[in-house]
Amino acid sequence: MIARVRRVGIVGGGQLGRMLALAGHELGIECTTLDPSADSPAAAVAPAVTGSFDDLDGLAELAAGRDVVTYEFENVPVAAARSVEPMCPVLPPPAALEAAQDRLAEKRLFTAVGLAVPAYAAIDSLTSLEDAVERLGTPAVLKSRRLGYDGKGQAVIHDPLLAEDAWRSVGEVPCLLEAFVAFDRELSIVAVRGRDGVTGSYPLVENHHREGILRLTRAPAPGLEPEIQRAAETHADAIMTELGYVGVLAIELFQVGESLLGNEMAPRVHNSGHWTIEGAETSQFENHLRAICGLPLGATDAVGLSAMVNLIGAMPDPEAVLAVAGAHLHDYGKEPRPGRKLGHVTVRADDEPSLEHRLHRVLDSIDHAIDVP
Ligand SMILES: Nc1ncnc2c1ncn2[C@@H]1O[C@H](COP(=O)(O)OP(=O)(O)O)[C@@H](O)[C@H]1O
Ligand SMILES: [Mg+2]
Repeated sequence: MIARVRRVGIVGGGQLGRMLALAGHELGIECTTLDPSADSPAAAVAPAVTGSFDDLDGLAELAAGRDVVTYEFENVPVAAARSVEPMCPVLPPPAALEAAQDRLAEKRLFTAVGLAVPAYAAIDSLTSLEDAVERLGTPAVLKSRRLGYDGKGQAVIHDPLLAEDAWRSVGEVPCLLEAFVAFDRELSIVAVRGRDGVTGSYPLVENHHREGILRLTRAPAPGLEPEIQRAAETHADAIMTELGYVGVLAIELFQVGESLLGNEMAPRVHNSGHWTIEGAETSQFENHLRAICGLPLGATDAVGLSAMVNLIGAMPDPEAVLAVAGAHLHDYGKEPRPGRKLGHVTVRADDEPSLEHRLHRVLDSIDHAIDVP
């Protein structure tokens, strides 16, 4: 009789939990999620436990009878994740959560494995900020060390005289000040490591943000240089080895000329990997589940070219989107709210001109169409 890992608990019931559960369903892996909201996106497709992420009873209920517990967002309290470990394995390991929750720890980890980072300083007071602004110059980005996402908890300082305003706007909490990088483009790598230490990486993708929120991903990144891909894979492997990592890991990067700078990482499936559902041999969601369940990893090759557009604040007319050849609509079933990620569209094609044509037709069908360079 072959032992099969087939019951997975997921802390978090957002769209990432939902897409994990959907991928699991096809593989015969039953996913159950834990979320404070009873009508989370994942609860519509899989059994769900209702409770906050630090509710020990809820976590125990999630872990009961499960073969492995994972998480779909990185602000799960580390103590909560560790509280589950005596009951069942938690993967990726809570050490990865710890590193990803603190921008200072993250930068130190990147540096330790040889991934360069923007010039930065740790800030714990207005005086230390003023000193750092003098040293790093302007523009510079002030970021809270913890709990930032989608550009929240950040302020760009253009003038040293405005340092105090920035300090107040981020809430006078421990921060990093980073030199503003005039990058050529933003890239990310989604990598995966199995329980046996085997790793894989998807092609680097090119990301476009507006107001700190991801709008568009092109996969693979156009004109991707093989040396850049190799460098990013080497860094991802080193980080995963260092953390004893199991699962999918995403690393956001800035490309400056031929070099890469590490921005931040996410110890989970990532928005810039959504294209893999239709655009890669194996999706990031399936590979995350395969990894944490101790199954062989699937191939990470791209199948043709893809572009992924986030649907933010409002959903488009599905008929208009679906009329575009190669377009795939994903609706997370969330209440519309300004700035909220409600779904995404992945559009595929075999060559660049037809991808651009199809992408622009998709964008035309979306009210809040973004300026695509
Ligand atoms: N040092 C920097 N220089 C230039 N742009 C930056 C810098 N840091 C962040 N940004 C921009 O802001 C976006 C969000 O910042 P990030 O650190 O990734 O925070 P979040 O956790 O909100 O995603 C980045 O994707 C990038 O576009
Ligand atoms: Mg980011």
